[in-house]
Amino acid sequence: MDYDERGNLRFGGCDVSKLASTYGTPLHVLDEQVIRKKCREYMDAFSRSYSGPGYRVAYAGKALCIKAVLEIVKSEGLYLDVCSAGELVTALSAGFPPDKIYFHGNNKSTDEILMALKRGIGRFVVDNWFELLELGRLSSKLKKRANVLIRVAPGVSAHTHEYIDTGQSDSKFGFSLIEGDAMAAVKRALQMRSLHVAGLHCHIGSQVFNLESFQRAAWKMETLRWEVKQETGVELLELDMGGGLGVKYLEGDDPPPIVSYVEAVAHAVEEAASYYGLRYPVLTLEPGRSLVAEAGITVYRVGAIKNHRVGESYVLVDGGMFENPRHALYGAQYTVLPVRKPITHQRRVFTVAGKCCESGDVITKGCELPPVSAGDLLAVTCTGAYHYAMASNYNRFPRPAVVMASGGKSAVVVERESYMDLVKRDKVPVWLEAKKLAKAMGQRPGM
Ligand code: LLP
Repeated sequence: MDYDERGNLRFGGCDVSKLASTYGTPLHVLDEQVIRKKCREYMDAFSRSYSGPGYRVAYAGKALCIKAVLEIVKSEGLYLDVCSAGELVTALSAGFPPDKIYFHGNNKSTDEILMALKRGIGRFVVDNWFELLELGRLSSKLKKRANVLIRVAPGVSAHTHEYIDTGQSDSKFGFSLIEGDAMAAVKRALQMRSLHVAGLHCHIGSQVFNLESFQRAAWKMETLRWEVKQETGVELLELDMGGGLGVKYLEGDDPPPIVSYVEAVAHAVEEAASYYGLRYPVLTLEPGRSLVAEAGITVYRVGAIKNHRVGESYVLVDGGMFENPRHALYGAQYTVLPVRKPITHQRRVFTVAGKCCESGDVITKGCELPPVSAGDLLAVTCTGAYHYAMASNYNRFPRPAVVMASGGKSAVVVERESYMDLVKRDKVPVWLEAKKLAKAMGQRPGM
């Protein structure tokens, strides 16, 4: 992303201000080529650094589960991780092959399990005892053998925000390794005839910069694979190490490159497998953020500007926590670029905030901006992951459109919600209507 010779910001080969005038603001823009590049970086890194019998890159759809993105990852040969029936339906409607889908979720409902079984989903990542027993019962009833990975909480902290740190022993996700539940779950699953235990899974957290955490988790998982072999005689042949690689939101962020991450995990798995005399497993990673975050920007139009003599000053934009709740949730911070290249070096510090009725409705704080006025456009970078996916209609704001740009062309991939979309599912029961009518006629209801 850069400014052209006329000082206009370009993204995906397109002039960002033209995208804003064509499609409106706030607007999410995705660059197809960046997503493809990241997919290839993962696949290439794996093919060069892992000598096991196979590898899989399963895109974590929770980062952005829309058909256009799934089309890209499918065409790049990736697998897909879904965590709800809604994501599963999106994947199937995008023509994603069911056998390349991993089904996650820490509280899958009976209906979700049934839907996935009937569609022949590739892997169930089993999170807990309730699910294990329910899956056993339903798969045996339908006479459909389910391939499962047992999700393990390996007791490794990812050193990230506590809301997205998931590997710790008392996590709500997975069977605890330390308390012995993981081993017990594998043993129980191996006894269930309608299940095929393909292997083990863990996911330690998200926006992780520390490769050592992934490596420690890999050793723990390989140790468990060895213990399972010792205690049951079964060598589980798949290991899924989840996702979690961090990305650069701010100039000072320094995440490891994709290739280093893949190498670090692959080497730790090979080393541990060799140490225990195990065959190398089919190794899976489930990246979400590191595949799509940098492929997205959000474009806003500035409205009011509020200068305070004491304390923070605000640039108010036409989005907010309804389309990006990440500052409110995790204190996330962003890089903000003016869509017109500034002609001065003058900068002032602002909080960029949105339109919602809360003081916490902030996009980013402490942001150095050149002089801005109402009507100017700002681009917030690195918003491809966990933005549109986490948007809501809070304060009844319609969700923005998502546009895909590629080599100078652009197209809407998710339409902007309309005000009619906001009210079309509302219903008013007749008794309320009756009261309204009575009141309008100056009578008490029932008279
Ligand atoms: N696999 C599993 C089982 C996961 O739970 C996740 C993310 C991933 C893979 C992908 O992780 P990634 O590569 O994207 O870090 N809403 C939060 C992030 C929540 C991540 C949830 N799980 C945020 O906006 O930062």
